[in-house]
Amino acid sequence: MAKLQNLAACASKRLQQASHLEPAETRIEVRALLCHALGNVSHAWLIAHGDEPVTDTLRQSFESLLARRIAGEPIAHILGQREFFGREFKVTPATLIPRPDTEILIETALEKTPANQPCRMLDLGTGTGAIGITLALERPLSQVVIVDFSHEALAVAKENIQRLAARNVTALHSDWYSAVQGQRFDLIVSNPPYIETGDPHLQQGDLRFEPITALASGADGLDDIRSISSQAAGHLNPGGWLMLEHGYQQGTAVRDILQQHGFTSISTVTDLAGHERVTLGRVD
Ligand SMILES: C[S@@+](CC[C@H](N)C(=O)[O-])C[C@H]1O[C@@H](n2cnc3c(N)ncnc32)[C@H](O)[C@@H]1O
Repeated sequence: MAKLQNLAACASKRLQQASHLEPAETRIEVRALLCHALGNVSHAWLIAHGDEPVTDTLRQSFESLLARRIAGEPIAHILGQREFFGREFKVTPATLIPRPDTEILIETALEKTPANQPCRMLDLGTGTGAIGITLALERPLSQVVIVDFSHEALAVAKENIQRLAARNVTALHSDWYSAVQGQRFDLIVSNPPYIETGDPHLQQGDLRFEPITALASGADGLDDIRSISSQAAGHLNPGGWLMLEHGYQQGTAVRDILQQHGFTSISTVTDLAGHERVTLGRVD
């Protein structure tokens, strides 16, 4: 009878042949699928039990997970979760899958919000809640409002609030600022839709499986960034910051938009590859 370690090695080869993933990536994904099929055992458990035989039941359930991945379904959808800033967030096809790039937005936000001071934050277009919930957990003295116009995404965000015991977060159904009229914050963060509507990448990879309303934003990808920026100053306290994630070629355009709306101290943070990723500005 085949052993768990043989099953994993064979599956890695099959997944690699069927995808454009690097060998190391396929090994990590196959390991995650196998741990999932085994009832969410840990990676350490799998290493310690690699010599154990593969039962028919396990083979069947693992094969069906592997077939979905080979067909292109995102690994986060198959596992139902994705790690972000060291925590597991529930993910469904109704939400964007949180990206590692978005951790730059978290780091930038944490730099502007001292841990020992209370702070009101707003996360616009929260999806799984990854940004707002992470900020709330990293800054326990803060009060964080997270909003999304997708009822389905908001339901996932509410589950993540419970799962991660984020007591200082309020989730609201809202078309950008519609549910927070009259409220002001010290920090507004957003990873809004910013892909150009005609971008061919929308038909490739994980993007094919994510909601188009979470991804695309008009001919130049900037419609939502313009909309969020135009109303931000009216929702910020003096000295408050607006921080926006955007496409790596949109830095100049986003700085211009923030300037048009009277923001000061405008700057852009680059990712590890040197691409412009997050632009921020302050209201005086
Ligand atoms: C790029 S996703 C970001 C999700 C999450 N913040 C993250 O970084 O993983 C953009 C989110 O904005 C939401 N959204 C789009 N238009 C919106 C609007 N007018 N009002 C509120 N949310 C909106 C989408 O439903 C989606 O969840």
